[in-house]
Amino acid sequence: LWWVAISFFCTDTATAGIYTLSLHDALPILALLTIKNCLDPVLRKTCLPIENIDGELVILAENMVETILAAPGVGLAANQIGLPWRMFVINIGVETDKENLVTVINPEITAMEGSELGEEGCLSIPDVAAEIKRASQIEIKGYDLDGNEVRYEAQGYLARAFQHEMDHLNGILFWDNLGKMKRDILKRKFKKKIKEQDA
Ligand code: CO
Repeated sequence: LWWVAISFFCTDTATAGIYTLSLHDALPILALLTIKNCLDPVLRKTCLPIENIDGELVILAENMVETILAAPGVGLAANQIGLPWRMFVINIGVETDKENLVTVINPEITAMEGSELGEEGCLSIPDVAAEIKRASQIEIKGYDLDGNEVRYEAQGYLARAFQHEMDHLNGILFWDNLGKMKRDILKRKFKKKIKEQDA
């Protein structure tokens, strides 16, 4: 379902921002985006670097935030909504009471340390979860929507979320980290779920 709202982009402050809004951008549509499931080939794409941060990308990121909040979820990569670009939105406040959704453009992992098992799921593989081994600490750098370089250090569950979203940008799904037998069990579970939904 799509919903329409007049967003804060319409206020006077928007024109004073770092990007110039065209008439088209002046009335953005805030929308819940359709999340592609893991059967969609876009989830297997190695996503391409973003070369230009413009008003449309900003609106897209806003819509990804809305989509995560509605799902609800912790992170969402651009290819999960059908766009094979190197960008994800992630709730860096996941382990606190406060939601803090940030957009990371062209992210790169700059350091990884330790290893731990923990439960993981994915909005593109609904109702399936598994224990996945991940680095316990991670450092990531990328760019925000203003084009400024950003760096995040994370551990535990947030470090896991960053690694999960990074994998999406390389066409990797969380169950690829499992052995074939475990993965096949989860795939069957997912396919059964999809069938039930379609019925
Ligand atoms: Co995912």
